[in-house]
Amino acid sequence: MTEKIGPIGVFDSGYGGLTVYKEIERLLPQYDYLYLGDNARVPYGIRSYETVYQYTLECVQHLFDMGCSLVILACNTASAKALRTIQKHDLPQIPGLHRVLGVIRPTTEILGELTQTNKVGIMATQGTVSSRSYVIEAEKFFPQVEVFQQACPMWVPLVEHNEHRGPGADFFVEKYIDELLSQSPDIDTIVLACTHYPLLIEKIRKYTPEHIHIISQGKIVAQSLADYLVRHPEIDALCSKGGKREFYTTESTEDFDTKARIIIGQEIHAKHLPL
Ligand code: DGL
Repeated sequence: MTEKIGPIGVFDSGYGGLTVYKEIERLLPQYDYLYLGDNARVPYGIRSYETVYQYTLECVQHLFDMGCSLVILACNTASAKALRTIQKHDLPQIPGLHRVLGVIRPTTEILGELTQTNKVGIMATQGTVSSRSYVIEAEKFFPQVEVFQQACPMWVPLVEHNEHRGPGADFFVEKYIDELLSQSPDIDTIVLACTHYPLLIEKIRKYTPEHIHIISQGKIVAQSLADYLVRHPEIDALCSKGGKREFYTTESTEDFDTKARIIIGQEIHAKHLPL
């Protein structure tokens, strides 16, 4: 079978994955990219395994159909709840060479290098927290690191409704940070383990003691992808290089264009993908 050469697919439940996409594009500008946001069905963070898996698989399949051989799940919830099943169960049944990568492994692979106290806070959606993916993965690479999890169910709605810079966001930012830090006084590193959360960074910094490092995943995932493409020339050969970017959303393109401009600082014209 002749393999298809096409853009690298970047998928998220909504706008949040653009915080990861931005760093990938910055580090690897030579590739073509196709971003897909499932804005019509966001949030994923409150949904069951079955639903997150079904939605994610459907979107990954669309990205494959549009020519992508490599897809990055730039969504922690999808990485936690759907990635493994897609890799193990679905990919072997799909003709052609395809790969799907997530954001949790690249982060946990370097977790131990980020902390001095070996106490790390993970702020994530309810779905990611209940999957315990960070706890399980971190244990494999750095058994000495203790992971404290905090679900932040109000943070994605604040971002999706463009209220993350407004005064209403302060209450829930302070609340979840206090709840996380009350689990251990020795936490010295907080990972924003949801792609939407870097958009709340100003408020998160405001309510976090200065000595605590706050880590966003974008640069980590981008570097991990760069390393992956060097280690896997057969996949790299399937990723077209022309600097072309396309954006798709399952919801209104107008809204997507406006929010994407704020997040990635570029004028874009998204296309609608009907589900
Ligand atoms: N962006 C998703 C993540 O990284 C969460 C948003 C949602 O709940 O859909 O987990």
